Amino acid sequence: MLITKNKSLQSLHTFGFQVSANAFAEFEDVDDLKELLNLYPSNHFILGGGSNICFTKDFDGLVALNKIKGRHFELKGNHAIVKGGAGENWHEFVLWTLDNNWGGLENMSLIPGTLGAAPIQNIGAYGVELKDVFVELSALNKETLEVEVFDKEQCAFGYRDSYFKNEGKNKYVILDVTFKLSLPSHQLNTTYGAIQTVLDQKQIANPRIQDVSHAVIEIRQSKLPDPAVIGNAGSFFKNPVIDENLLDSLFEKYPAMPYYRQGDGTVKIPAGWLIEQCGWKGKRIGSVGCHKDQALVLVHFGGGSGSEILKLAEDIQASVLEKFGIAIHPEVNVL
Ligand code: FAD
Ligand code: EPU
Repeated sequence: MLITKNKSLQSLHTFGFQVSANAFAEFEDVDDLKELLNLYPSNHFILGGGSNICFTKDFDGLVALNKIKGRHFELKGNHAIVKGGAGENWHEFVLWTLDNNWGGLENMSLIPGTLGAAPIQNIGAYGVELKDVFVELSALNKETLEVEVFDKEQCAFGYRDSYFKNEGKNKYVILDVTFKLSLPSHQLNTTYGAIQTVLDQKQIANPRIQDVSHAVIEIRQSKLPDPAVIGNAGSFFKNPVIDENLLDSLFEKYPAMPYYRQGDGTVKIPAGWLIEQCGWKGKRIGSVGCHKDQALVLVHFGGGSGSEILKLAEDIQASVLEKFGIAIHPEVNVL
């Protein structure tokens, strides 16, 4: 396996900061991975598509890029049981399932990154989360170098959360992920956001899963900055979940505040709205800023650093806390 020294990571993460790794290698299977972990048992970092990372400095150790590929399926009753290698590109994998007319991933079209990173924060979009179609994953235990299988319960999925962001943090490398998808006829989820509006505009009365995917892609492209054009890592913060009791007092002051009841006594508030109300939307500070169309997305215009993004994020957190009394927390992994 080729290990490169002083490798630039600029094109390997979507913020596009000028940072480098002391050592860099790609792994295509579990044996390659074990070899790398033996060489760098502690100072290593597993990289997928780099779309949920904010590097604030050079990485002093080995960055190991996941290139484990492979797609398998089995038809069982009304379902397709579909498994992919962790280094598969998420969106290409979604398109493959749609080409085969297997339903379940369409609302999560165009999310950047790899299949292996998707369970870590239980990716979600437009009313669907990975956990809704998840069966199991296999992962290499970095300490024992044994492969372990995790079912849905063991993954402890939550909103942008899982076992792998908590007790299991940095202990495993996900190798493959298995989903249970539907065969026709599919149950569509078109109630979230503007999906139905887009389908109506296109006069699609009986949408197929492919139509839902196209609608989601259209909405995402109209709202979210393309990392190929302007550096970003999607939503920088998670939407805060607050106690329903807090809602009334906030409403008295901010009657226009959007909110989503979670059905368990808590309410999710869109952090993008909170940030916009604090006056950050479209603001640029040097090489970084808050996106003009989506305040939840922090952007890098070029020539800047992760530390600048972090400083901006801290200032935003402080002003949201001061104005609303609500703490917002990063979704992005800061290194
Ligand atoms: P990376 O950024 O490479 O890694 C993220 C973390 O996971 C790191 O800590 C890394 O060490 C770890 N990791 C990666 N692969 C593995 C592995 N195989 N085993 C163990 N650990 C691993 N997310 C959503 O949920 N919904 C969205 O709608 C959404 N939209 C986005 C839009 C844009 C424009 C961007 C840039 C990002 C968006 N994201 C969204 C965030 C991002 O796409 C997801 O978090 C994605 O799953 C990250 O995948 P990745 O391969 O790029 O992970
Ligand atoms: N809003 C504003 N101003 C803004 C942005 C948003 O007022 O600048 C308000 C609007 O009222 C809007 C509401 O916030 O109706 C929600 O906005 P949006 O539909 O854009 O969704 P979001 O909550 O900002 C979440 C996810 C996205 C996901 C979309 C669609 C989180 C942290 N983010 O964004 O995921 O694609 O919903 O499901 O949950 C990501 O995780 O990186 C990501 C992009």
